[in-house]
Amino acid sequence: MGYAHSHRWSNPSLGTASITGERYTSTGFMEREWNHIWSKVWLLIARAADIPDSGDFMVEDIGTESFVTVRQHDGSLQVFLNHCPYKGGRLILEPEGNIEAFWSPYCGSKWFLNGQPFNASEVILPSIRNDSIAGFVFMTMNKNAPSLKEYLGPVWDDWKRYKSEDWVRTSAASVSVNCNWKVPQDNSCESYHLPTVHPQGEYWIEHDYKQCVFDWCDEGHNRMAIQMGAPAQSLRDKDLRIDDQLASMLTPWGLDPSDFVGREYETRVALQKAKREQAESKGYRIEDLDDDQLTDAYHYNIFPNVTVSFAGCEYVSMQRMRPHPQDPEQCYYDNFTFGAKGSENDADLDGLGGKEWLQEGRERQFFTYGDRLMNRTIADQDLSVVVGQQLGLNSRGFTGVTLSQQEHRLQRFHEVIDQYLECPK
Ligand SMILES: [Fe+2]
Repeated sequence: MGYAHSHRWSNPSLGTASITGERYTSTGFMEREWNHIWSKVWLLIARAADIPDSGDFMVEDIGTESFVTVRQHDGSLQVFLNHCPYKGGRLILEPEGNIEAFWSPYCGSKWFLNGQPFNASEVILPSIRNDSIAGFVFMTMNKNAPSLKEYLGPVWDDWKRYKSEDWVRTSAASVSVNCNWKVPQDNSCESYHLPTVHPQGEYWIEHDYKQCVFDWCDEGHNRMAIQMGAPAQSLRDKDLRIDDQLASMLTPWGLDPSDFVGREYETRVALQKAKREQAESKGYRIEDLDDDQLTDAYHYNIFPNVTVSFAGCEYVSMQRMRPHPQDPEQCYYDNFTFGAKGSENDADLDGLGGKEWLQEGRERQFFTYGDRLMNRTIADQDLSVVVGQQLGLNSRGFTGVTLSQQEHRLQRFHEVIDQYLECPK
């Protein structure tokens, strides 16, 4: 038993709608998504701790729009459309940095950080509704949208428990990929690919979906809780041992991997006990977390385009799929990781993702898929399947996605898309 067992979601009944290829390839479908989804929902746009000082900003392009989130002099955040209201040109071309004021490089107009014009006779930059949870900043273009708390439903209380507002960025990659934005999001709505795409994880994360807890909610989001910090049950009669990655999760907490030879499945509970005893003195704030949350992966798919995964009490990763402005067969895939206060010196961070990505630091890397790797093993493995999948989704012979029993969350994701598409613009 754990937190997910004792806090199940509503799990509304599912339909049987087929998931056809045109959802991933059609310009018409893409336009419907823009009018009925992207312009209506709350979208994850920034991380508050990434822009700590007044004038710090982050720019994100989503479809045909560009948004800039700016820290104000009073400490609050505001989000603006990133274009000159007179001439349409982008106000800010850099992805992040610091400004003293907005300035139109074409007409020369200037605005204060709060969007008020220097010259009172000029127009203001209208701000866009935003709100934050767990350090993640969301915004919505929909004036009639519910509050972010209402929009997120049960996610809100789940995330509050981690006290992750001040967790700091440890890596950031943005990759241009030749696939529809939904292909990577589909991938993160199921776990049956763990043994095939991420075979190395068998030594430290449970691979059997029957051991996972899946939930989905009326608000359109879903959740998966997977046991982590011990070998998968599938290794019981095979190669059961403590591998280097699992060892690197144990040693920062004073646990000696050699003590677990012959009792390999006891590592997860031992880790939970050690974390409960030591975390506070290391700077972590775990008082609201259940024991299973100290080790396990709690994986949230936030409708429409974000996956947030808390990995134990140490770090959280954010995957965000942003639609291309014109082409339904391209998207931008963001993979950011944030470490908890206290995790800075814990070697288990590199055990979870490969050591290289930590060495790259927090500077955001922009590149095209195929030019290089993110150096985050699991994320690189996930992207390795999506481009090929997109090619097949175009085939005349492809009649629709076949879902296995454990892919209810994926079915639900597409049903929520359909529900939005059926609503008036
Ligand atoms: Fe994966």
